[in-house]
Amino acid sequence: MCGIIARVGRSDSVGALVSGLESLEYRGYDSAGVAVKNGTGIKVHKRSGKVAELKSAIRGSEPNGNVGIGHTRWSTHGAPTDDNAHPHTDESGRVAVVHNGVIENYEELKASLEAEGVEFVSDTDTEVVPHLIASHLAEVGTPEEAFRRAVQELDGSYAIAAIVDGFEAVYAARQGSPLVLGLDDGEYFLASDVPAFLEHTAEVVYLEDGDMVVVEPDSVSMTTVAGEPVSRDIDTVDWDPEDAGKGSYDHYMLKEIHNQPTSLANTVEGRIEDDGVSLTELDTFDGVTDVQFVACGTSYHAALYGARLLNAAGVRARAFRASEYGTADPITDETLVVAVTQSGETADTLGALERAEAEGARTVAVTNVQGSTVSREADETLLVRAGPEIGVAATKTFSSQVAALCLLGHRIGEDVTGDLPWDDPTTFFESLRSLPENVREVLDGDRAHELADRYLGSEAFFFIGRGLGYSVAVEGALKFKEITYEHAEGFASGELKHGPLALVTPQTPVFAVFTGTDDQKTLTNAKEAQTRGAPIVAVAPEGHPAVDAADAHLPIPDTDPALAGLLANVQLQLVSYHTANLLGRSIDKPRNLAKSVTVE
Ligand code: F6R
Repeated sequence: MCGIIARVGRSDSVGALVSGLESLEYRGYDSAGVAVKNGTGIKVHKRSGKVAELKSAIRGSEPNGNVGIGHTRWSTHGAPTDDNAHPHTDESGRVAVVHNGVIENYEELKASLEAEGVEFVSDTDTEVVPHLIASHLAEVGTPEEAFRRAVQELDGSYAIAAIVDGFEAVYAARQGSPLVLGLDDGEYFLASDVPAFLEHTAEVVYLEDGDMVVVEPDSVSMTTVAGEPVSRDIDTVDWDPEDAGKGSYDHYMLKEIHNQPTSLANTVEGRIEDDGVSLTELDTFDGVTDVQFVACGTSYHAALYGARLLNAAGVRARAFRASEYGTADPITDETLVVAVTQSGETADTLGALERAEAEGARTVAVTNVQGSTVSREADETLLVRAGPEIGVAATKTFSSQVAALCLLGHRIGEDVTGDLPWDDPTTFFESLRSLPENVREVLDGDRAHELADRYLGSEAFFFIGRGLGYSVAVEGALKFKEITYEHAEGFASGELKHGPLALVTPQTPVFAVFTGTDDQKTLTNAKEAQTRGAPIVAVAPEGHPAVDAADAHLPIPDTDPALAGLLANVQLQLVSYHTANLLGRSIDKPRNLAKSVTVE
């Protein structure tokens, strides 16, 4: 969950490393550091705090060097202190290392290094790596071989990059944590994710588990960690570097919310034909008997949405929290398992996928990141094409996941039962084509700011919905708690009276989501809360019966019931954003959270 970057070029690397770290900060922001190699040895600058603090600390005394590595940390082993920040070095300062992942056998390795007299200065698992490299360097002489031997001793997950004084090269390897090579004219990058170097190049090589690379100013050599040569394809990423910046917005999250008309248009582009769906990347689903979705957090809420759509097409489908999947329903070779993950790197989701594959299921990944681990592990991939998302809170990727799952739901329904998730395909496809415009209408009429202000200081915030509206209620609550740090819960509206109603007071606004499924019942449930004094906010189209009954209204355009939830969710994203902004929260980097969660 940390972010790593490395650069080898003919010019100074520090500026590119620091700006790369700024783009990777969504992966962790406890501490940051860089190390560069120049004529006077290896210079390390690192500290606890955000990349901006590192940047101001090195301003003026700017280190320089054409070969360097950098790191932004989300701590797993050891508190976020200056000593625990990466890069870590060996005792002589000849070797510097950055690492993302968890080295499971670090205690044993540390004990044997200590027995040889090595003194550790941090509490991290990573620090064993530079000491191991240094110890092998004394035996084998070449940094490449020393690095290889050190990596062969590690158990666990890692993307590691190292530099060694006296050598114009970065040595790197991956196992279970992402690592992408970027190739530009006269410079090479290695990073945890493409936005770190997208302003320089869109030509990339996605390294695979077990790969090791040695990057020098004019060449790259690729082998397995065992030493066998490997060759990997070069891909061109079609993300616009502009998308990876904040533009004129105060926060990435607000920019990404406002980008949804475009990102949704990209998700569906070329995939709808008349009143049908064309997903050429996926094989027929003939023979599938049941569908299991596995996902975490916001992606799980998209999966809930997808499962409901399939149920509406008469297909047996359930969404599972990936971390709870180990003991879930039986799998057969007619089961289709769909892993939904925007990053494609979530350890819990990858673990669930592994179980599904071991038990013979066919697997499909629904992800935003081309070349991500999930897309390499699953049998087939449906890219959601939302573009880079930097804000830790998922917004546009959720909307694009939902849109992609609508397309997938249509195809699976057609192939498996011959039924579709929509009562009237013509209305559905019209609504799908109007989706970008409808989202724009919600964004242009942003009333959420006023409501955020009105309800600021409430004791708690509740979100209710039914059917697809339930997925939106739980997603609305997750987003709200994640970025405002206020207490928020999402409930199935019918469940309110079975317990949660005890929490309802005049100090707990209730956001009720109306998506056209049993809306009358949801309205009754909302009124039960209103009777106890809670202000009700109806998220519903103009003219809906809930609007007059409610204390406040967040409007959504009229659309097919399958897409109403997506529009309602955009309103709830705005409520969360404005509330967090009024409270002065760290919106793009909420405390304790990271965007890509690569530990179970
Ligand atoms: C919340 C959020 C998280 C992620 C979850 C899974 O805004 O972003 O709940 O949805 O960590 O991440 P992915 O989708 O990358 O598997």
